[in-house]
Amino acid sequence: MTTQQTLSIIKPDATRRNLTGKINALIEQSGLRIIAQKRIHLTRAQAEKFYGVHAERSFFSDLCNSMTAGPVVVQVLEGDNAVQKYRDVMGATNPANAAEGTIRKEFAENIEANSVHGSDSTDNAAIEIAFFFSQIEIVG
Ligand code: CMP
Repeated sequence: MTTQQTLSIIKPDATRRNLTGKINALIEQSGLRIIAQKRIHLTRAQAEKFYGVHAERSFFSDLCNSMTAGPVVVQVLEGDNAVQKYRDVMGATNPANAAEGTIRKEFAENIEANSVHGSDSTDNAAIEIAFFFSQIEIVG
């Protein structure tokens, strides 16, 4: 058992369709605990900084547009093996390849408006959590 934390973002395509509660239900059904959560509207500069690793990719500008199109809900999830577990709960980046029962299979519109983001490693989880939350906001 390795208890980990991971950063989740419920994206604008999902908040626009009022899906926060349904996505949170799938997260909690998996055993992950939502130990921090807030709804914010990212600025362009914040989106570009958060996704800086993708700055050279062809989809970077579209990605930043979609991430600033409306509010997001940022969350810290905690649980056994939380980084990989949440990636399993989210499903493949492209919903066309996502397994049945995953968030993206259920709710994502396409590869860009794919409803949720989750950290891809424990190192990135620490960086991404610190991007949005101070320790006082994380209540395990
Ligand atoms: P996310 O897990 O937030 O990480 C990067 C995001 O870029 C990804 O989800 C998608 O929303 C978006 N994206 C758009 N096109 C692509 C692509 N071709 N490959 C990977 N990610 C993409």
